[in-house]
Amino acid sequence: MIHLHGVGKGYGGRTLFEDVAWDIKPATRVGLVGPNGAGKTTLFSIITGELAPDAGIVRIAREVTVGHLPQEVALIAGRSVREVARDGLERVLAVGRTLTALETSMAVATGTELEGLMDQYGHLQARFEAMGGFLVENRVEEILCGLGFARDRLDRDCAELSGGWQMRVALARLLLMHPDVLLLDEPTNHLDLESLVWLEGFLRTYRGTLVMISHDRSFLNGLCTHIAELSGEGLRVYTGDFESYLEQVAQRQALLERQQKNQDRKIAELQRFVDRFRYKATKARQAQSRLKQLTKLEETRVELDAKQRTIHFALPEPPRSGRVVLTLENVRKAYGPPGPDEKVVYRGLDVQLVRGAKIALVGPNGAGKSTLLKLLAGVTPYQGGHRDPGPQSRVFYFAQHQVESLDLRRTVLEEALAASQTHAPTFVRSILGAFLFSGEDVDKRVGVLSGGEKNRLALAKMLLTPANVLLLDEPTNHLDMASCAVLEAALGDYTGTVVLISHDRHFMDEVVEEVWEVADGRVTPFPGNYSDYLDRCARGDRPAPLPLHDDSPTKGRAAPAASRSTAAPPAPNVETTSEPVSIDWGAGVGGDVRRRKSKDEKRVEAELRQKRLAATRPLRDALESAEKAVGVLEDRLTALRARQADPAHYGRPDEVREGKPGRVSEPG
Ligand SMILES: Nc1ncnc2c1ncn2[C@@H]1O[C@H](COP(=O)(O)OP(=O)(O)OP(=O)(O)O)[C@@H](O)[C@H]1O
Ligand SMILES: [Mg+2]
Repeated sequence: MIHLHGVGKGYGGRTLFEDVAWDIKPATRVGLVGPNGAGKTTLFSIITGELAPDAGIVRIAREVTVGHLPQEVALIAGRSVREVARDGLERVLAVGRTLTALETSMAVATGTELEGLMDQYGHLQARFEAMGGFLVENRVEEILCGLGFARDRLDRDCAELSGGWQMRVALARLLLMHPDVLLLDEPTNHLDLESLVWLEGFLRTYRGTLVMISHDRSFLNGLCTHIAELSGEGLRVYTGDFESYLEQVAQRQALLERQQKNQDRKIAELQRFVDRFRYKATKARQAQSRLKQLTKLEETRVELDAKQRTIHFALPEPPRSGRVVLTLENVRKAYGPPGPDEKVVYRGLDVQLVRGAKIALVGPNGAGKSTLLKLLAGVTPYQGGHRDPGPQSRVFYFAQHQVESLDLRRTVLEEALAASQTHAPTFVRSILGAFLFSGEDVDKRVGVLSGGEKNRLALAKMLLTPANVLLLDEPTNHLDMASCAVLEAALGDYTGTVVLISHDRHFMDEVVEEVWEVADGRVTPFPGNYSDYLDRCARGDRPAPLPLHDDSPTKGRAAPAASRSTAAPPAPNVETTSEPVSIDWGAGVGGDVRRRKSKDEKRVEAELRQKRLAATRPLRDALESAEKAVGVLEDRLTALRARQADPAHYGRPDEVREGKPGRVSEPG
């Protein structure tokens, strides 16, 4: 179907891959894997003809249609969801348009002309029917709904959609197009679990050839008949799914190691012989021949596959913050112009973030998780209420789409330097090195970086910005599996405050201690990690949501974290999240091995956690009141500092001597 021969590509003197030979056979489902920056996206662009290879050829049979979902979708505006998706059926629609044109001509034609037209019309109509032309709208709706769109949202403008939903529209268009070969570049990045499972099912029955780039092990396992691994050494294709690929890689590595050992032994023997007898006349000929063997062996020396380089870092001790690190009070947030089309996401929202909290925001896509994170980060306008960062809070925001937070025109080094006011350039370079930007990589334009590289750069900036509140929207998106494991460990050890959004269940389980469910403009906090949250949902055991501003008894002050977590009796008819989907959130190649925990283990863990929570309640209450006291003192400190900074203050000697706050107003 598609045939690559001797394909090579590099940028600026650096080779990405060489001599790639690939025969993509009909009706196979191939997972294309490899570390970030290996050139997977580049290889797709070469196949689609967007990019010319430096060497080699790509042959695609003439009648074969190829569809491509890029890794980063250009945003669409001014057209409805339905319209954009319908574009996928352009071939059918074109026939429909010709039919309409024929109808117009038939209305005025007569005699033999009319007969000819009617004949043509009949043929075309049959073809239209065979192509499913009368079912266009049904198919459009079926696919969009499968990808999670509510029926009443289909006529809305794409501009209102978040990046994740726009991506789904593009995917829907492509699935409707139904090309012979479907090239998908990280299609799961913006899906929630439900849609991910739907897509997996859809693709499994896809009549055609699939090639998909993904770092999601369970997705690859469910679908792939082959795994193609791209590395500096070229492309190697393995038969079987991802697990089987891992096994084969391990076996290959073991075999190579054995071969290498044998060779080493032989070389040592030969070398000894040569050293000993080289200058002995009687053995000179033998020594000479061994020397030849030696040279030959050294030339054909078995090379082990290069170990995958991976990022390595730990988050530094964050600067100390106040007890309450961020408050949203009575916030109203809506998208679109005021009026009937306005979409209100939050109304009277009261939220308080307490130091050291590690929270995952969960809820269906489009429920407002990213919006809440942006409100906390202070990067989106809102229509009412306040956002108050605590006295010493320093917030770092990691956007879901790195194009939103990186300046694509800068170089990697410029972007990093701009993020760090205090660090020396050598330090900045060393941090970049830890995120695998070494040597000339730091002079690359941000715009040309691969998805994973953009993500790594954003993470490097996180280390260069001394922050004690990390707000992370899908921080593992685009990251290869080994890098995910490193990020997970770093966040697990971090002592500051973290709020994150992720669709990687294992990642959330390892990092967070609290889950906030976001739905219908309300936030419901659950203590414990993501598995605990799923367990409680399955039991229908749901805590009460945070009070809205107007029903809060202490208007404007959300209840403190510890007392928030008390469970309310299960509310009738409250929509619970869907059944926990059984997915293996697998390990990275070369990363730590993520093993799926058994039901029993999970239950025991959850019980232990609950016990620990109960046992430590008095301590946590004590801590809470101590921290409150600290909070009051911190506020006073801030007030005193403000007064010290005010020149007028020194003109009031009484006040200076007294050291009382005097006329200085307490910060609210
Ligand atoms: N125009 C360009 N100039 C210089 N380097 C480039 C250019 N385009 C891409 N690159 C580099 O080529 C490498 C491969 O990029 P590519 O997007 O193909 O990687 P990838 O395997 O898809 O990675 P990821 O898993 O992160 O998506 C990256 O190091 C990228 O920075
Ligand atoms: Mg890519």
